[in-house]
Amino acid sequence: MHMKMVFATGNPNKVREISQILDGRFDLVGLKDIGCTEEIPETTGTIQGNAIQKAMYVYENYGMDCFSEDTGLEVFALDMEPGVDTALYAGPQKDPEANMAKLLRNLEGKTDRKARFRTVIAFVKGGEVKTFEGIVEGKIALGKRGTKGFGYDPIFLPEGKDISFAQMDKDEKNKISHRGRAMNKFLSYLKGG
Ligand code: IMP
Repeated sequence: MHMKMVFATGNPNKVREISQILDGRFDLVGLKDIGCTEEIPETTGTIQGNAIQKAMYVYENYGMDCFSEDTGLEVFALDMEPGVDTALYAGPQKDPEANMAKLLRNLEGKTDRKARFRTVIAFVKGGEVKTFEGIVEGKIALGKRGTKGFGYDPIFLPEGKDISFAQMDKDEKNKISHRGRAMNKFLSYLKGG
């Protein structure tokens, strides 16, 4: 008995990580599978708002229950930037190398390198929205470390570990990551209701 769930993302890295976490408990259906090939607007200015906006877009335009997620990296010494603009930090091409280089440059000479990832999952069922948040605290490394993962993983050192997300196996990252934590809350909710 597998429930079908639309996951409103075009990011294959997120699909991969979330599929691993779901571990076959649900059939994930992607945007392409439902014929949604247009870019979904992300214009609310907050991580939570954008997550809700994406899930509601699919519900309103395709009439399907679905969930989405939005993630941001918040750096304390930079007034919690890049935050909602994490993907576009170094420009519209969303290039992870350029994004990491810009962040390392902006932290040059700063002793406070504290940062956290925040994920919000929005679940829309019958037009009702529920959100689930996951946070992992940590700090920005002085340079890139490791080659696994994606995005800013090579420069993010999660609290309590002395390696970056990009030096971890996928299971180790999922266990403590922002996305893993938000997904666990979402899964508990699904199991309970
Ligand atoms: P968005 O949620 O697709 O807008 O992604 C926000 C930004 O955060 C992108 O630049 C992603 O590469 C980055 N990002 C999202 N999740 C992770 C992660 O688990 N590790 C590293 N970077 C991430």
